Amino acid sequence: MNEEHFKKIISHAKEFGFIFPSSEIYDGLSATYDYGQNGVELKKNIKNYWWQSMVQMNENIVGIDAAIFMHPKTWKASGHIDAFNDPLIDNKDSKKRYRADVLIEEHINKIENKINKEISKGKKRFGDDFNEKEFRNTNPNIKRRNEEIERIEKSMGKAFENDDLNAIYELIIELGIVCPVSGSKNWTEVRQFNLMFKTELGSVSGESSSIFLRPETAQGIFVNYLNVQKTGRKKIPFGIAQIGKAFRNEIIARQFIFRMREFEQMEMQFFIAPGTQEKWYTHWKNERIKWHKALGIPEDFLRFHDHIKLAHYADAACDIEFKFPFGFKELEGIHSRTDFDLKQHEELSKKKLRYFDPEKNESYIPYVIETSIGLDRMFLALFSHSLKDETLDDGTSRTVLSLPYSLAPNKVAVLPLVKKDGLPEKAKEIFNRLKLNFNCIYDEKDSIGKRYRRNDALGTPFCLTIDYETIEDGAVTIRERDTMTQKRIPILELNEYIDSKVNMNVLL
Ligand code: GAP
Repeated sequence: MNEEHFKKIISHAKEFGFIFPSSEIYDGLSATYDYGQNGVELKKNIKNYWWQSMVQMNENIVGIDAAIFMHPKTWKASGHIDAFNDPLIDNKDSKKRYRADVLIEEHINKIENKINKEISKGKKRFGDDFNEKEFRNTNPNIKRRNEEIERIEKSMGKAFENDDLNAIYELIIELGIVCPVSGSKNWTEVRQFNLMFKTELGSVSGESSSIFLRPETAQGIFVNYLNVQKTGRKKIPFGIAQIGKAFRNEIIARQFIFRMREFEQMEMQFFIAPGTQEKWYTHWKNERIKWHKALGIPEDFLRFHDHIKLAHYADAACDIEFKFPFGFKELEGIHSRTDFDLKQHEELSKKKLRYFDPEKNESYIPYVIETSIGLDRMFLALFSHSLKDETLDDGTSRTVLSLPYSLAPNKVAVLPLVKKDGLPEKAKEIFNRLKLNFNCIYDEKDSIGKRYRRNDALGTPFCLTIDYETIEDGAVTIRERDTMTQKRIPILELNEYIDSKVNMNVLL
């Protein structure tokens, strides 16, 4: 785990307005995050890249936007009510029920609190000379406690990965975790509980019924597949794409936006004739890896991981894994889902969900290939890969967020050299010429060097400097983020030049 880099990602995301902890003034809400002024733009650009490559570039794929709330039978049909679970444990003395993972996480928090106390003591002792980083690295108590946290996290992660409920129980016993109410260690075994968030529909007491926040967007596509096929006069093979929120009451939610309780998915279901699934599965594996590589992500940061243990509905499945700072982890899933979902919906809804194939002159339930990527995970993948500290030729250093130009939150920063002599007015004029086509930043505060650095850290591809010559020759200095090269360019050519570098077409 590259812990330093991961910490830097989190602090950079906050400092530069990409991601804030949710409801931070109340000390945040675990595994929930808000996207700030720059995060929302980057997220929107990732969505556009995905949407355009799916819907715009494929004449047989269309999009929908289904509701988050769905009829509860949807989740019975999909298997989520019966098999989408997390581990629970009861204390026999207090009769209180806990999430086994939360008990372990709270135990870890206690160790972290001890570390924080040690640091407060250090601060008091050393006053202004206190160096927290050095103290963390050298204090034996802190080192021992950090090792203990790492060991517990590893054991817990392994137990969950192997679905080993007994190992989780044993970890709770080994750590001597007590019930916060009874204070006893008298625990039951660990059992599973459902990951879906449940709420009530209807306000009159006695008339309400339980509904769920959707744990995946896919089911909104399945239940609408015939609506889209008929109204869109679609012939198999065809696809339906959707981007939207999904909710899961996750077990281990300690890796920033990698695993959240509220997140966004970009999913596409491709409806095909039975028997053609192998061909289309391979097709979508190739298409999806190409999509990632077009972003400039190097080969050794991406890999396929084939599922050996297949879910009950799949006849083939793999993940595209990305090398996050904490190792290779799932970024996207590609699943050959057979006709499982549609068959289930047909059975529970008692509605025919068959497609009449005019070429074969027969009706059948289509098979489905699914591509499913987490938008927030894609954000983290891009952000972690792009954030770099560079040492420059003159010995100075800079932090640069080298996002693909088409995805950068802002494309241009317009910077008057000084705040006087008509330069701000000229800069505003240029800003107004460009703002119709690009997200622009206007910045006149601090030295030009500091403004370049700020925009490097934001990932802005181009900085334009408006100087005294601009008034005379109608040209500006354009500086490119990655090469830091500068050249003069006439104002009249700016729109076309910048567009040729930042347009989404460059990726598509
Ligand atoms: N419809 C299939 C499906 O939902 P999944 O593997 O459970 O499959 C698909 O989820 C993708 O959604 C994952 O590859 C991941 O990128 C993202 N994802 C899943 N759970 C997430 C979470 N708790 N936080 C952020 N992203 C998540």
